[in-house]
Amino acid sequence: MTVALFPGSFDPFHDGHLEIVERAHGLFETVVVAALRNPSKGEPLFGAEARREMICESVSHLARVRIVSMTGLVARLATEVGADVIVKGLRAVSDFEHEMQMAQMNQHLSGIDTLFIASGSEHSFIASRLLREVARLGGDVSALVPAPVAARIKERFPSR
Ligand code: PNS
Repeated sequence: MTVALFPGSFDPFHDGHLEIVERAHGLFETVVVAALRNPSKGEPLFGAEARREMICESVSHLARVRIVSMTGLVARLATEVGADVIVKGLRAVSDFEHEMQMAQMNQHLSGIDTLFIASGSEHSFIASRLLREVARLGGDVSALVPAPVAARIKERFPSR
């Protein structure tokens, strides 16, 4: 049984994230999506429970996906859920340096390797940070996020 852990802050979960979950679902027997706190980012736009719910609704067409929401170390979580690998998406070379460092740290802490999946070019410009900014300033991001996330963003920014 191959278990892949896909950790991220997912604030919000977007189409690029969904692509990685779908592709990991095709490669591994179980995919655990973990919505975590990124300590280098400020207060999240959506709380942990809301992010977990949005991911659950967005991946409901995939039978072998579990969603967890927690604080703490990815390396510890990976061991707790019995992950064989950690999966991360890479959009561009600019993602690589930081992801490489995290992969090496997580390998050091847990012995678990990180596998990178290259995102499709149609998703390579999508970043949660930009979606938050565009949504806050009244832009429409609904074509870039799953429908349940678009609905939550509309609720949060009703005049948009
Ligand atoms: O979606 P993001 O913001 O790029 O995800 C980053 C995340 C949440 C995976 C990273 O910040 C993280 O691993 N946070 C949990 C705390 C941790 O394990 N830190 C050490 C990373 S080597």
